[in-house]
Formats: sequence, C-alpha cells, structure tokens
Amino acid sequence: MADSASKPDASASAKRKPHPDFKKAEASRPPFGLSTKLHFVQAPKPDWQPGQGANDPSNISTKHREIDPYAAGRPAVHNYKLLISGIVPRPVGFVSTVAGDGEGTNLAPFSYFNVLNHEPPLFVLGFSGGYERAKDTLRNLLATEECVLNIITEEYIEAANYTSIDAPAGVSEWSLSGLHPARSKMVKPDRVQEAVFSIEAKLVETREWESRAVPGKKTGVMAIVEGVRFWVREDAIDEEGVLIDLAVRLSCPNHPAGRLIDNRS
Ligand SMILES: Cc1cc2nc3c(=O)[nH]c(=O)nc-3n(C[C@H](O)[C@H](O)[C@H](O)COP(=O)(O)O)c2cc1C
Repeated sequence: MADSASKPDASASAKRKPHPDFKKAEASRPPFGLSTKLHFVQAPKPDWQPGQGANDPSNISTKHREIDPYAAGRPAVHNYKLLISGIVPRPVGFVSTVAGDGEGTNLAPFSYFNVLNHEPPLFVLGFSGGYERAKDTLRNLLATEECVLNIITEEYIEAANYTSIDAPAGVSEWSLSGLHPARSKMVKPDRVQEAVFSIEAKLVETREWESRAVPGKKTGVMAIVEGVRFWVREDAIDEEGVLIDLAVRLSCPNHPAGRLIDNRS
C-alpha cells in the first residue's frame, strides 16, 4: 500500500504496519487455509428466546471507555485506526475507472464501500481527501461518471491489494497487477475478469466532507453510484440469476465465463 504525498491516505500516516519486515513475520505464520471449506453452522444459541439478552451475561459488567473523537491532542488518524479496527469485516470495492480523456485506465481498492439500496441498486464509496487532492479513481469518476465495482475473492487478493500502489502517470494498475480486463456493456471501464461478481455503475452524486477539528480542511468525498449491470460468474449463480454461491464467491475455483444480468429489463 503506497501513496504519494499529494494524495491523502490515512493508512500512510497511520503507521499501522506493526512489522518492520512483513515477509519475515508472514513466513513464521501457518499457510493460508485453502483446505478450509465453507460450511453453514447453527446460530451460537439456537434455542435463544425473546428477552434472554446476550449469550454470555457475564460480559455485562465490563466497563466501556468513552472516547471523544475531538478530544484535545487526539489526532484524526487515531479515529481512522479506531474505525478500521472496529468496523470489521468491511467489504472492499475494487474500482475500475477510465480517465476523462478516455485513455488512462485505473484500478484501486476502497474499503469505505457498501451497498445501500437495491431498487435502484446503490453503492457508496468513500475517498480520503477532498476534490482538490482527488485520487485518480475519484478524478476519473467525476470526469466520466462511470465505474465498475468488482468484488474481491481470495483467489486474487494479492493482485488486488497491489493495485493500491500509487502507480506512476501512464502506468496502469491492470498491468502491474496481472489481472485481466473484460469488456463492460453499459460503461466504458472494463470489469475484472477474475471477479466472481462485478457491477457496472454510473455516478449519482458526490459530497465533499470537511474536518470538524480544522474548519475549512477538506478531508473526504463520498460518491454514490448506481448499478446498471451485474456480472456473475456462471459457476456462482443460480438459474434465475438470484443467488450467488458464497463458497464460489469467497474462494472461487477457476472458471472464466460470466453471465450478464440486466437489472433494468
Ligand atoms: C484494502 C484497501 C482498502 C482501501 N480503502 C480505501 C478507502 O476506502 N478510501 C481511500 O481513499 N483509499 C483507500 N485505500 C487506498 C487506495 O487504494 C490508494 O490510495 C490507491 O492508490 C488509490 O488509487 P488511485 O489514486 O489510482 O485512485 C485502500 C487501500 C487498500 C489496500
């Protein structure tokens, strides 16, 4: 994860990498659990009855600490760290865009991302920095009003993560990652062929946020986009185009075909 000084990124200033040599730390860990298969289990307490409350009543006596996000001397990055460690898991929107001149292509991950409505299908993205210091993805989205939201699977997580580097001008994250572009139907940006689920989307609105601690300082931009086409891999979708198989969605064995679902027809 790298970022230039001109493009704000809390993760850079957060210094949240606890390992000076991450590869060394990683080597000491057990390998990724590819043998762990998805299986459905019971709720923690299937016989729970209304009014019974929490499953472990002893936790009720543990005290809470009140935290004022604007306490004197508390830097904004502490709120960033608190939020990204407390709001988990978060989905990651892996966003494909094209520059306003139609030439440059861009691919980057954003974890300030979620679905917020299904009719119409609406999604939110949060960008660090204001309009003036916009990341390429936001700049492209503002210029073209189009993007593709790709959902990440374990199968290409390293490649997706790598696209968060601040690529030099003229260098596309597509080639840096080794991921494959596939043509979209309704928007110009390509979708990621490796993604089990992709959403072609058009910009609905944006709103710029201002710091409460430093009035006038622009700190972020929210973008709401509307899904106009869905793409789901054939081996992950049922006949009606309704349910995505979570086992495939999460780890996805190799199958290239995708099926187009037109949510407007
Ligand atoms: C997993 C992950 C999640 C990220 N989430 C966000 C986010 O929600 N908002 C943001 O502004 N940057 C986020 N970043 C950082 C951007 O991906 C990074 O700044 C990237 O260089 C932006 O690319 P662009 O300038 O090509 O748009 C995230 C990075 C990673 C690896």
